[in-house]
Amino acid sequence: VVVTNPTVGGLYAERALGGLEAAGFEAMLVEVPDGEVYKTLDTASRLYDEFVGAGLDRSGAVLALGGGVIGDLVGYAAATYMRGVPLVQLPTTLLAMVDASIGGKVAVDHPRGKNLVGAFKEPLLVVSDPTVLQTLPDVELRNGLAEVVKAAVVGSPALFAHLEQCGIEDLVWIIEQAIQVKVTVVEEDPYEAGRRALLNLGHTFGHALELLSGYRMRHGEAVSIGMVIAARVAARLGLCDLGLVGRLVRLLERLGLPVSFSGREPAQVWEAMATDKKRRGGRLRYVLPRDIGEVTVSDQVSREVVLAVLAEEEV
Ligand SMILES: NC(=O)c1ccc[n+]([C@@H]2O[C@H](COP(=O)([O-])OP(=O)(O)OC[C@H]3O[C@@H](n4cnc5c(N)ncnc54)[C@H](O)[C@@H]3O)[C@@H](O)[C@H]2O)c1
Ligand SMILES: [Zn+2]
Repeated sequence: VVVTNPTVGGLYAERALGGLEAAGFEAMLVEVPDGEVYKTLDTASRLYDEFVGAGLDRSGAVLALGGGVIGDLVGYAAATYMRGVPLVQLPTTLLAMVDASIGGKVAVDHPRGKNLVGAFKEPLLVVSDPTVLQTLPDVELRNGLAEVVKAAVVGSPALFAHLEQCGIEDLVWIIEQAIQVKVTVVEEDPYEAGRRALLNLGHTFGHALELLSGYRMRHGEAVSIGMVIAARVAARLGLCDLGLVGRLVRLLERLGLPVSFSGREPAQVWEAMATDKKRRGGRLRYVLPRDIGEVTVSDQVSREVVLAVLAEEEV
C-alpha cells in the first residue's frame, strides 16, 4: 500500500506504482490530505481502515511517499497496524531525506503537543531519489538545508566546508553526507539515551521560536536562528571562539536562512523554552558547538547567559 497526499501523489504516484508493478508487486494507492494538521490519530485510523480493506497483513508492506509529515504519519500507522507491518520510506523533501526518514522515529501530533504519540519503527528500506527535489518549492528546500547545516556542525567538517565553498552544488553528495551523520549518531544511540540528543542542536531555541510564532515560523528557519543562538551561548561560555559564530552566520545567510529574530522579548523566549521543557518533564539541555564537527550537551547554562545572548540577538 503506497500512502501519499494529493500534492506528491499528483507528481509521483504513477512512477512509484508503475515501478512496483513492473517489479511484480501488487500495489494500491491511498491518499490523505496534505498538511501537518492531518498528522493525527484520526488520519492514522483512516489508514487502518484502508489497510483492512486492502487485506494488508505482515506479508505486505506500507510505503510512505512524501515529506516528513507523510513519513511520520504512515510510519506510525505501519508500526501499530497488526503490531507492525514492514515499512518503506520514500522521502520526497530534502528534510525527509536527510532527517525524518532516518532513525526510526514515527509519530502523530496530539492537540497538546507535536509528536506526542509515536513509536520507534525502523523502515525496511529508505529510497531517496534526489530528482524529485526539482519540484520542491524553494522555501521547502531551505527548510531542509537548515537540517543539513545542523548535520554538518554536529558531525561533518567536510560537509560544512563544501557548503561554504560551493553552496548546494553536488546536492546528491550533500544528501549522502548529511544522512551519514544522522546514521552514525543514531546507530550509537537508537533510543536517545545520550548522544542522539546532539541532533537537537538549534532545536531548544528553535522550538521556542516556533511556539511563539504560533507555528507560522517554519521549522528550518527556527532551527537556523536556534543554531546561531546556541553558537553565541557557546562563545559566551568560552566553549568556542567568535570566529565559529561568524562562519555559521555567513553560511546560513548564504543559503538564504534567517540568523536573527525580532519582535520578541528575551524573557518571552526564555519562558517559552522553560514551559516547553516542563511540559516534556525534562531539564533544559543545550547542545553547544565547540567546533565544526564537535558539539557537546550542557544543562549548566544559566538563565542570565541565555537572556544576555537573546538580548544581543534581538538587534
Ligand atoms: N521522524 C523524525 O525523526 C523527524 C525529523 C524531522 C522532522 N520530522 C517531521 O517532519 C515533518 C516535516 O516534514 P517536511 O518538512 O518534509 O514537510 P511536509 O511533509 O509537510 O512537506 C512539505 C510540503 O512539500 C510538499 N512536497 C513534498 N515533496 C514534494 C516534492 N518532491 N515536490 C513538491 N512538493 C512536495 C508536501 O506535500 C508539503 O506540502 C514534521 O511533521 C516533523 O515533525 C520528523
Ligand atoms: Zn528539526
